[in-house]
Amino acid sequence: MKKIILLLSAVIFVIAVLACAAEVAKEAAKTELRPAQKLMQARAMLLTTLNKNLGAGNFEAVGKNAADLAAETKKTGEKLTNPLAKDITLAISMLAKDTSSAADKKFAGIVKVKLGAIKAKCDECHAKIRDKK
Ligand code: HEC
Repeated sequence: MKKIILLLSAVIFVIAVLACAAEVAKEAAKTELRPAQKLMQARAMLLTTLNKNLGAGNFEAVGKNAADLAAETKKTGEKLTNPLAKDITLAISMLAKDTSSAADKKFAGIVKVKLGAIKAKCDECHAKIRDKK
């Protein structure tokens, strides 16, 4: 009899642990970022870094940051099926490429104008696509 009670307690304990683990996994899935969020946060972080580098007059780094954004948006844009999303994303890629060339020539004025245009494109997609859902 004692053995059965011990065995039953062990079984109940294991079930309780498993149920708890499942709950923890569910919570983790809820707080995990969606792939689109990860991509967007990386873009925002890249632009923050770029602006810091621009402020510090580090044109070489600005050129590299902009080239990274150009490459990512080109790769992402080419895979998009929504024509508007694709257009905007590829436009950002072109603008980022222009930003990179301007940075290589240390043309701070042009870099700033292009960055403004990039920001406007980000906002355009957020207004026309993201916030419409
Ligand atoms: C083609 C459309 C499109 C473009 C272009 C775009 N975004 Fe987004 N952005 C979205 C969508 C859709 C979401 C919502 C993603 C989600 O919540 O799953 C989003 C969300 C975000 C977020 C919030 C992420 C979070 O933590 O929830 C940031 C920050 C962001 N975008 C920054 C940018 C920046 C910076 C650019 C330009 C370099 C940009 N986005 C360009 C569509 C776009």
